[in-house]
Formats: sequence, structure tokens, C-alpha cells
Amino acid sequence: MYYLTRQIAFEASQYYQIPELSDAKNFELFGAAANLNSHGHNYVLEVMVKGEADAYNGMVINLVTLDALLKTHVIANYDHKHLNRQHPVFAKNPHLQPTSENIAIEIWERLAPSLPEGLLHRVRLYENSTRFVDYYGEGLMVYLTKVYEFSAAHRLHSHTLSDEENRDIFGKCNNPAGHGHNYVLEVTVKGPVEARTGLVAGLNFLDEVVEKQVYARFDYKHLNLDAPEFEALNPTSENFVKVLWEVLEPNLRPVTLHRLRLRETPKNHFDYYGESF
Ligand code: NI
Repeated sequence: MYYLTRQIAFEASQYYQIPELSDAKNFELFGAAANLNSHGHNYVLEVMVKGEADAYNGMVINLVTLDALLKTHVIANYDHKHLNRQHPVFAKNPHLQPTSENIAIEIWERLAPSLPEGLLHRVRLYENSTRFVDYYGEGLMVYLTKVYEFSAAHRLHSHTLSDEENRDIFGKCNNPAGHGHNYVLEVTVKGPVEARTGLVAGLNFLDEVVEKQVYARFDYKHLNLDAPEFEALNPTSENFVKVLWEVLEPNLRPVTLHRLRLRETPKNHFDYYGESF
């Protein structure tokens, strides 16, 4: 089985607005995105298809064919359009918000029937570089990822090992004075898109939880010295991503935390799905 991804981009404008609510209520729900004068995004769409390579041409799908479908089903409806006013589905349904969640589902529903059964695997839509959604054709279930960056110092050092063993195992990362990273944390939550808002989680909800549970504890801190979580725990990224899961997961409920990806440097990242996976 092969998985291949094609990327395209489109630019569109929109607003989020529940017609029967007051302006104040809409701003409460959607923040600046409720502005009826509109806002816009440079969307980046990644379409992933899966299948066996054709015996004759060695391809899962001819990219020329896929590009033509993307042009007809996506570019024609989305690029340089005002989604609330000009999109064939969103313009007719003022109760369907043109959120990234709903756009990903709409694109899936448009593309899937024109492809061989089972070929479409995932639609990923980037609203910007720090917010994207994944849709796998599972009813209303959408995966939402937000990307956060923070800075912290640490020293890899295990209290169960001698100083010499620590130096041997951790090398320069055992430097007694520590070193630091710009950590990048991807938080992926999953859930059904709420019909009224078109969102998996409130627009600012993840930011608020990450601010309190991650930034307040770890940003511009020395993990070994400032964070009680690491008093006796070696702050490897494996241990750190688990600590992050433990502070985030209960505070995100009822939203379901699906995955944390912790990027320690551009060269390495660590994924954690909780203890059960
Ligand atoms: Ni390090």
C-alpha cells in the first residue's frame, strides 16, 4: 500500500456568524472571526490518497488526474472566493460555518465520489502554520492540531546514576549549567464538529489551556530547577512529553486529547498518545 500527498493552496475570505445570535454573542463564540466585514486565510490543502501502484504505469493515481479534480472541486469553489457569499454549500446554509473543520469535510465529500472507492485517505487543511485540521471521512470526527512554541533550559541527569555514568550516557546534555531549546508542541485534539459553531473546540480554548498548563509552568524556565515535575525526573523529551500529557489531558476535557508531538530541535520530535497506546 502506498500513501501519496498532493498539496495545493487557495485564498478565501469568510466570517463566522450564527444568524439568530446578537453581535456580542457571536464575538463571544468566535472572537475576531465573527467580524461581518470578513477575514481571510491563505489555506494550504494536503490531499492524501492510498492504494496499490498500477501494474502498467506504476502509480497510485496520475497526479494530472488528481490535479484536475482538485481544480474542479476545490479551486473553482474556494480560491479567491468569499465563502459565506459565493461558495455553493456555505452560501446556501448560513447555519453552516465555513470553519476549517467544515471546509475539510466539505472538500472530502466533494472529492471522494470522484475517486475510486477507498482511495482518499486524508484531507488536511492548514488555516495558517499553527492551526490545521485532519479529516478521514469518519462522520463528523475531525482532528484539530494547534502548534505552540516555548523556550526552556534543561540538563539531562538521572539521580539513580553516578556523575560519571551521567556524563557517559548524556554527554554534553549533562552539562551541569544546562542548555536550552525552543520546544515546539503540537497539540492534537479530536471530536465531532459541533453543528452550531462548526468547531471541534472553542476557538481560544486550546490556547487558554496551553497558556495556563504549559507556558505558565515551563516557558522561560529551567525544567530541573523551576518545575517541581522534574525534581526527581530526568527531563528527557520522553519524560517531558508525558508530563505535558498529564497536565493537559484532564484540563482539556471534555475535549479529547489525541496526540502530543514535542519537537525538541528541528532534528527530533517525540509523539505520545497517552499510556494506552
Ligand atoms: Ni536538550
